[in-house]
Amino acid sequence: MIPPRLLAILYGVGLFAHASAVPVAEPEQQVLGTLNREEDQIESSRRLSGRFLHITDFHLDTHYKEGTSAERVCHRDTGTAGFLGAEGTDCDSPQALIDETFRWIERNLKGEIDFVLWTGDSARHDNDEKIPRTAGEIIELNKVLAAKFIDVFEDSSAARGLSIPVIPTIGNNDIMPHNIFREAPNRWTRRFTEVWSKFIPEAQRHTFEEGGWFSAELVPNKLAAISLNTMYFYESNSAVDGCAASSEPGFEHMEWLRVQLEILRERKMKAILIGHVPPARSGDKRSWDESCWQKYTLFMNRFRDVVVGSVYGHMNVDHFMLQDSRDVDIVAATEDSPSDPSFSVQSRSDYLSSLREDWAEMPSPPDDKASNFFSSDEWDMEALGKKERRFLEKIGGPFAERYSVSLVSPSVVPNYFPTLRVVEYNTTGLDGVKLWADTAYSEGSFESLDWDAVKRDSSEDVAEADEADDGEDVEEQGKKKKKKKNKDKKKKKKPNFKIPDHPSKSELPGPAYSNKPFTWLGLAQYYANLTEIYEKRASSKTQEGSHTVEDENTAAHVDLYHVEYDTRDDNLYSMRDLTVRSYFRLAKRIAKKDSSDESALASDPDSSDDEDEEAPNTKRSKKKMKRPRTNQVWRTFLDRAFVGFLGDDELDDIQI
Ligand SMILES: *[C@@H]1O[C@H](CO)[C@@H](O)[C@H](O)[C@H]1NC(C)=O
Ligand SMILES: *[C@@H]1O[C@H](CO)[C@@H](O)[C@H](O)[C@H]1NC(C)=O
Repeated sequence: MIPPRLLAILYGVGLFAHASAVPVAEPEQQVLGTLNREEDQIESSRRLSGRFLHITDFHLDTHYKEGTSAERVCHRDTGTAGFLGAEGTDCDSPQALIDETFRWIERNLKGEIDFVLWTGDSARHDNDEKIPRTAGEIIELNKVLAAKFIDVFEDSSAARGLSIPVIPTIGNNDIMPHNIFREAPNRWTRRFTEVWSKFIPEAQRHTFEEGGWFSAELVPNKLAAISLNTMYFYESNSAVDGCAASSEPGFEHMEWLRVQLEILRERKMKAILIGHVPPARSGDKRSWDESCWQKYTLFMNRFRDVVVGSVYGHMNVDHFMLQDSRDVDIVAATEDSPSDPSFSVQSRSDYLSSLREDWAEMPSPPDDKASNFFSSDEWDMEALGKKERRFLEKIGGPFAERYSVSLVSPSVVPNYFPTLRVVEYNTTGLDGVKLWADTAYSEGSFESLDWDAVKRDSSEDVAEADEADDGEDVEEQGKKKKKKKNKDKKKKKKPNFKIPDHPSKSELPGPAYSNKPFTWLGLAQYYANLTEIYEKRASSKTQEGSHTVEDENTAAHVDLYHVEYDTRDDNLYSMRDLTVRSYFRLAKRIAKKDSSDESALASDPDSSDDEDEEAPNTKRSKKKMKRPRTNQVWRTFLDRAFVGFLGDDELDDIQI
């Protein structure tokens, strides 16, 4: 609940004083900007398509030169760097890859998606001593990318000049020195406010400049995006120190996030969270400061009626992570964690293996039948056996509400192959809703909330909350886990922020948990097989013999991206939707150990293993002959993590 006094401020006139500075397309829309939303649905030719694009880690490098050496980060010497990028290397992306990617988006996705989530790292790495980056270059590269999005989605008939919202966030390579981001306002938040002026809602620009975070409506009054500034959570950012101390920007960021989610809950809206660095926490990998991870996991759990899902980039490997709300122990979360190591294929696969181990330790469905345990929507708890009931209780009920999920998309930069993803979501009951393109800025909207004003008024409430006994059960949860260590010391401590309430029990779980409007139904991962493109190009060259430069340029307009996999018709992952329990089920199937793990070469005669499903294509059938009892779900997960780039032998080496 938002304190009534805070609500009064939020909806009061004072807060919207600056609204008049915003251009409004049609005069009558100013009048419509009220809290009474149901009537203001207008006729429009546009409709929701039920899809969005998640794209990340472009890493544009204008120093990239075709034919140079990957050892020299594709800047010099002679090598095999291709014109669209050097797949499977640490080279960044040439302009041609960016151009072709946007050409593909324009041809294939324009008009077919409702918004874009763009999760940072648009600038090249600082990996060439001979050409150090400058702040000007970083901003320039980001401007190039912003202009590309504007170019594709510009629409003069739309209220804000773009046909759909594009939501950016700051990456650790979009700043200088990389990873280091001081308390805002700073030169980066100031510059990005300008660079992203078309994407950050006018009324959020002040908030963004003050913190590097902002919120925006995606479907007015229904769905919002919350763009997190993960630089304040990032373990490698030595300029800040986590989210526990109230003097830290990470603390304020989490307060802001909590208030956004409370307001959205109050308004019966849903939210998608986006950020650059994901909350990875497995093996010796800790991407976020532990105190930030704790709050994030707490909020994801408490606001599970509001948060639809969250998407990240940065790691360049396709995977997902589950946050376990039972790991939340706010008061104890102060210890230091190891920082982000350099992320080679080796450390990436170690990390994926450690994720798998974590997943193996999650509660297992009775008889290990994770693949069919969640086949039904409804359980008659009474009719279930004792084991089944116990299992469901352990995971937070039939919707696995104990957990939350964060998705990581691999990158455009071809560490493996360039890639992007399109997520499909449920639009049931959303026919005729007012769309973003038809909505000029209006003062009743969610995004018109100025954090500074909210903060001023809510500080009293936060202080009051410190007194409340609300924090107790979090402490209780943590204590169970930590086995009474430092019990007396901890008991006296209280969280220094307001612990949000759980969702109301009378409602069904939110769209992240049960299939309803805005639930993510599936995702299609697209990739560009650069090796294949180069081979085709080489063979057509030798066939045709002579070739003009012009021909070559036309040949460059290849149909770049193709579906790598689509969870909607993938009978190996066989995910009914992308709800938390679907990911829980997938995680348990990935984690399932094959008996060949115990006795290296022996093939397991127990054919009742329901996880050993048919390989989806001939390529994998061959693999199967070589390793008869491999867990195909794990193998496929690994294959996809590296965008299909690794060969059988490399995958065999990883699989332990
Ligand atoms: C969307 O959610 C509704 C429930 O609100 C459900 O009946 C419907 O089957 C879902 N649509 C899809 C395509 O899953
Ligand atoms: C990419 O193309 C190469 C060359 O045609 C092929 O050998 C490889 O299997 C392809 N990889 C994927 C993941 O499509």
